[in-house]
This record gives sequence, C-alpha cells and structure tokens, in this order.
Amino acid sequence: MRYGGDYNPEQWPEEVWHDDVALMREASVNLVTVGVFSWSRLEPVEGEYDFGWLDRVLDLLAANDIQVNLATPTASPPPWFSLAYPDALTVTADGVRLTHGSRDTYCVSAPPYRTAAKRMATALAGRYGEHPALAMWHVHNEYGTWCHCDHVAGAFREWLRRRHGSLDVLNEAWTTDFWSQRYSDWAQISPPRKTQYLANPAQLLDFRRFLSDEMLACYVEQRDILRPTGVPVTTNFVFGGWVPVDHWRWAEEVDLVAIDDYPSGNAEEESAFAADLARSWARGRPWLLMEQAAGVRYAGGRMIPKEPGALARHSMQHIARGSQGAMFFQWRASRGGAEQWHHGMVPHAGPNSRTFQEISALGRTLAGLSDHVPGIDAKVAILWDYEAWWALQSPGLPSPDLDYLKSIRQAHRALWQRGITPDFAHPSHDISQYETILVPSLYLITSKSAANLTTFVQNGGTLIVSYFTALTNEHCQIHLNGHPGALRHLLGISIDEFTPLTEPIPLLASGETPPPVRSSGTTWNAQLTGMIWSENVRLVGAEAVVTYSSGTPAITRNRYGAGTAWYLSTQLDDDGYAALLTAAGLPVASAPPGVEVIRHRDGTVYAINHTKDAVHGIAPNPLPPGGFAIFNDPCR
Ligand code: GAL
Repeated sequence: MRYGGDYNPEQWPEEVWHDDVALMREASVNLVTVGVFSWSRLEPVEGEYDFGWLDRVLDLLAANDIQVNLATPTASPPPWFSLAYPDALTVTADGVRLTHGSRDTYCVSAPPYRTAAKRMATALAGRYGEHPALAMWHVHNEYGTWCHCDHVAGAFREWLRRRHGSLDVLNEAWTTDFWSQRYSDWAQISPPRKTQYLANPAQLLDFRRFLSDEMLACYVEQRDILRPTGVPVTTNFVFGGWVPVDHWRWAEEVDLVAIDDYPSGNAEEESAFAADLARSWARGRPWLLMEQAAGVRYAGGRMIPKEPGALARHSMQHIARGSQGAMFFQWRASRGGAEQWHHGMVPHAGPNSRTFQEISALGRTLAGLSDHVPGIDAKVAILWDYEAWWALQSPGLPSPDLDYLKSIRQAHRALWQRGITPDFAHPSHDISQYETILVPSLYLITSKSAANLTTFVQNGGTLIVSYFTALTNEHCQIHLNGHPGALRHLLGISIDEFTPLTEPIPLLASGETPPPVRSSGTTWNAQLTGMIWSENVRLVGAEAVVTYSSGTPAITRNRYGAGTAWYLSTQLDDDGYAALLTAAGLPVASAPPGVEVIRHRDGTVYAINHTKDAVHGIAPNPLPPGGFAIFNDPCR
C-alpha cells in the first residue's frame, strides 16, 4: 500500500525537512511525490541545473525508507523561460496571451516548451534514474491546459490532415456549407477562437480530440525518456468538463493509472464514482489515488473540514476498488503562495491536530493490511465516452439542462445505493461479460458502437438507454429519419419531436406494467415525474411501460433477440430511476442503506459504513459508525 502525498520541501528551510521525515515515519508514510513545481529551483538559469538540494532531499528520504515518486516539473515553467520564449505562453480563445505569475502557463505545441520539457526529463532521468529512493516517475501535473496560439493552429492543421486526409472530407465532416465555412486551403483553418456567434460543433469537438492527442504526445515524449530507468511512469489525471483529455486513450500509455479526486458534492458517493472510473480506465491493471485533500472538502468555493473518520473512509472507498494506496495533496500545508489555504496532512497547526492524528491512524491501518490481488467481477456497466460528453457541451443544443455528467452520476448513484459496483465501459469496448448496460444521455455514437450495443442485446443483455442518446455521429451530424437514429431499430421506437420541460410533469404507468416496486417509499405506479426533457416517442415494435399524461410513451421496453432494450425519454428523479432499474431486473441492495460492500474475486470483502450507527451482521464484527472492515469471505 502506497501512503503519502505531494512533498514540497523547497518551500521550507532545511531544518524542517528533518521534522518532516520524522513525522512521515510516525504517520507510516512510504511514498512522497517530489518536485512537481520545482522547475525554477532545479534550473534557475536556462541549461544550468541545481540538483544539490534535491540530492539531499532524496538521500534523506532514502535513509528513512521513504520512497519517491519523482515529478518532472513541466506544469510550471520558470520566469526566465516565459521571458525568453513568450511564444510559449498560453493564448486564450479570445486572443489574450497570458502572463507569468500562476501555473500551467505554457503551450504544449510550442517547440521551445517541448525542447525544455524533454531536456528537464533527460536531466532528471540521468541524475536520479538509479537513486535508491526512486519508486515511480510522475510526469507533469494534471495535463489539461488549453491554448489557441499560432503554434497550436499549425499543429491542429497537421492533426486534421492526418484525421481527415483531404479538405473535401473535412468540409463534409464539419458540415462547412452551413454559414459559408467551406475551406479551400488548410491554412484557413484555426483553432476554435472566439467567434461572433455559435461556433461549429464539429470543429470544437475535433479541437478537444486534438488537444488530448497533443498533450498525450507531450507526455509520451517524457515517458520515453524516463522509461529506460526501469521505474514505472505515470501522470495524475484530473477530472472535469473543461479537461480536454480522453482518459481511455491515456490509460493505455501510463504504467499505472493515477487520479486526483476532489469531490465537491456528496463526497461518499463521488469517491465511489471517481474510484470506479479509475478502476475502469485501468482495465484490470494497477491504479492509484494520487491526490485528495486531507482535512477539508471543497464545496461551492468553501473549504469545509472533513468530519472525523471521513478521511480514512474516503481513502478506503478507493482502496476497496483496487487503488494501490492513498495519497494526498499535500504533505505540509504551505505557509504562503496561491494555495496557502489548501489543506495538508500536516496542517498549519502542525502535528498536534486532529488531521495529523487521523492521518497517522490511517497510515498504521494501511501498513497492517495484508496483500491481496484486487479484482471485481462487475455484471453491470455504465457507458462512458468523452467524445459524447464534449459533444453534449456544443453550443446551440435544444436545452441548457441537458447535462451528460449529471445523467451519468445519477446512473452511478442509483447502482451505488443498491450495492452494485459497476464498471464504466467505452461504447466500443467488448461488453459481452456484462448482464446490464446503462446508457445515460450518450448524445454521440458511431455506427460501429451502435452495432456493438445491438449485438449485446441480441445476445441476451439488458440495455437501459436514457433520453438524448444516439442522436449524432462522430462529427456531431444527426442520424436522420427519426431519433434516436443509430438505435431506433434496437429500441423499437421513433421520435420526431423533443420538448424541454420547465416544470416536472406526472407520468403514468400503462399497458402491461411491471409489478409495482418500492424504492424509498415511491412505487412505480405512483408519483413518477418527468423533468427537464420530454420526447414524442412513437412505438415501432416496443411497448409502452410508462406514458406521459397525453398517453405518449415515456418509458418503453423492446424485446430484441434474446435481450431487452429499455428507453427512458425524460429525466426521472432518483427514486424514479431506481424504480426503472428494479423494473429492468436489477437486484436491490442486501446491505442496509449507507453501507457499501465491495467483493473481490479472491474473496476479500470491504465493508464501509457511511452511517452514524454501528451495523451488525455484515462483517464478522459490528461495523463501527463511519468505519470499515476488511475480511475474507470466499463463499458469499
Ligand atoms: C490539484 C493539483 C495540486 C493542487 C491541488 C489543490 O488538482 O494537482 O497541485 O493544486 O489540486 O487542491
């Protein structure tokens, strides 16, 4: 089990380093991420390195049996770099070249940046590749920076040439005859800079794909310099709608998937969500929770103290899903600088604090865990696709309430609440091992992926598709002749009109209804409401299970081959969505509400109690309030 966090000793006088390692030992810390933002210290003048301080840090850590996850500091170039190479500073969509003074102010397409980043990686690999403390390489920090400069424009055009081959193909894919955008020369194409009115959705989507590939190339360049040292190389994935990174693709290029997780809503549920995503991206390979906040959670711009026990419980949610440990940002809270109020494992109050006590207690617990080979056999998957998410952020959609992440989170929450640990899967993956697949608002789908889903149902699977799915192809062009074009046949329906809803509307059970089911007091037959969205669904083979008050089908079911394809044409509340899952045959939780039970192939069971009461009968001993247990139960 890896345990530790980002360690920034360059922010502290050297005598503090000795306190640091003593406290790290007290807290059973065994891995620290060093050097993430150290470029200006490591290369104070272009081409002149100062490794003396880092030598002493790494030697001190090695002498104390603490391993190092050594970062390349390329997320924050030093002031001399920005002055010498102003063309490598980020340019925003509205043409503003940003100045030095924060972090992440670089352009991954700028040749001077690429050269400087490779030179730094080479220097670090040469100096520390055989250092006894070195356990892992941490390339960069949270790739995700956008830039719209001329370097980017050139690289984007090259990428477009490779993707589309010819301008004719690009013009067709981008529907450039709309608003006279037809290109007759590659040089006419720009990154999607600020426009007068709505921008071209296909261009926006291709630009995100390009940024993901461009940043990945940047990562791969550094990785290939570091890999000959024989030490695993990774980078920490950051999550958010603004991040132009396709983690499915990136996961294939890292030696272990590493994620940063900063929940901003219900942390219990969001931790499970982040960990299920990371586990799925890793596809059976190792992964690690690289960063989380120690003593606070962030909510609406506020930093709220985590209640006692939460720090360990959230870490355990990740470990229960296969994380090889729990890491934090950061070891010691900074006394100055832009993030001086971000939390630390050693907060400003020092070790004599609740946070440090909880950190030490968790360290002891993790040090005492016995090894096991994590592996979860999920029977249910949720489809997760960045391209669909990005496309659903296009301008000009028929309602501002259509929100991919909200839809996905509701599906995950519903499974989490009923004790099901799902995988996430890409629509093109082999999904034959699952019994049920949830497809929340997957706006964009390729014909190939649509065929994949069709085969899944044909062979006996249950598919539960939610509104605004399968409407466009990979170029954001609408599949014609009735929505949802790519899945119409499989779902046995055809839709000709959409109506956004500003108020919830009642839904009614109809036709051959499934038996009433109870979910938090709501029955299928009563109180079902539709929200934000509705569709004019016509039956073409499917049966209506629930209707709008007009009698138009709202939820349908289609027997197809050996399986069943459900369609939900509106947004339900959580109880309604849970009722739909029950109607579709998903089991309900056997554990009491608020208790999470995660079973691994090798019989290891993690039980995590999110309630304030002791829970009996799940683990060999009662689960303490807010606590957890790990035990072996091969039979259940
Ligand atoms: C992370 C980032 C860290 C630090 C942290 C603050 O996203 O990687 O460097 O900024 O947030 O919570």
